[in-house]
Amino acid sequence: MEFLVTGGAGFIGSNLVRELLKRYPEARVVVLDDFSSGHFKNLVGLPVEVVTGDLSDRAVWDELKRRYRFDAVFHQGAITDTTVEDQYRMMRVNADSMRLVLEAALEWGAKVIYASSAGVYGNTPPPMREDRGLLPENVYGFSKLTMDRIAERFAREHPELQVTGLRYFNVYGPHEEYKGRSASMVLQLALQMLKGRRPRLFKWGQQKRDFVYVKDAVKANLLALERGVSGVFNVGTGRARSFNELVEILNRELGTSYEPEYFDCPYDFYQEYTEADLTRARELLDYEPEWSLEEGVKDYLPYVKRLVR
Ligand SMILES: NC(=O)c1ccc[n+]([C@@H]2O[C@H](COP(=O)([O-])OP(=O)(O)OC[C@H]3O[C@@H](n4cnc5c(N)ncnc54)[C@H](O)[C@@H]3O)[C@@H](O)[C@H]2O)c1
Repeated sequence: MEFLVTGGAGFIGSNLVRELLKRYPEARVVVLDDFSSGHFKNLVGLPVEVVTGDLSDRAVWDELKRRYRFDAVFHQGAITDTTVEDQYRMMRVNADSMRLVLEAALEWGAKVIYASSAGVYGNTPPPMREDRGLLPENVYGFSKLTMDRIAERFAREHPELQVTGLRYFNVYGPHEEYKGRSASMVLQLALQMLKGRRPRLFKWGQQKRDFVYVKDAVKANLLALERGVSGVFNVGTGRARSFNELVEILNRELGTSYEPEYFDCPYDFYQEYTEADLTRARELLDYEPEWSLEEGVKDYLPYVKRLVR
């Protein structure tokens, strides 16, 4: 087996690379990354081949087509800072590149499993279902919805090709620390508290998120590979939790009793409430989240503690 993981030096990509190497020890795993938000340290110790390049550059794909014959492409690479407002850059990298990925995959006869986002739903009423509420509020969400539409049309025109989109909700877990301020609130709050500071939340911490542990996100990718179904699927836990609840869980796990420090949200746009409807993912992908927020945080904290030492 030959697998390509775009964005493989990033958070979800490098977790996926680890799982692929574990499940398919004989496989050749190639990472395409430009290291803009990923980090080489996420790949240290792993027997992967790295191609350094910009996934929005057609020449990079021409080179890959000459050198490899992939069985599957896991397309995770993207501008992941959702506050970036440069519309041209966001659309070029996140949306237009989808065409290059699909054209290459068609030539290889490779399955395409790509990362979409709950950002496509904006502030539409939860629970979010794949076929409704597609009203992104920022260009990041719009770029991901554009990807979904390109993928959907391509899959219709080429039914022989598997094209599976995974709309991740708020993913947290090991190897996200290089994302800086784009890292999950689980990491940011845990770090503040481990450094002896009060956790900082936008007023009044009641906003809710469907926080999903990276192990579940990786599992969804493997299920997509094995089940071979095309379409777009939500990947969350199906349960929204507030930032205040997250602080309570962290306090419990860390044995602390910090009160949040609330401040005004500086963004014009901010998702108030996200929660995945998992009906379709359960039915067609057999996806069942295994990690509640409590269990995910417990599993993740030893890793976070090592970061502050
Ligand atoms: N983490 C989340 O909560 C979340 C939620 C929804 C969707 N997603 C999506 O999941 C995917 C992975 O995100 P992540 O959280 O691991 O973030 P990340 O920033 O760690 O990973 C993105 C990777 O893509 C690489 N990259 C960016 N632009 C590139 C380019 N032009 N050419 C080559 N490589 C490029 C980065 O260097 C990085 O390694 C992204 O597509 C993201 O939009 C993530």
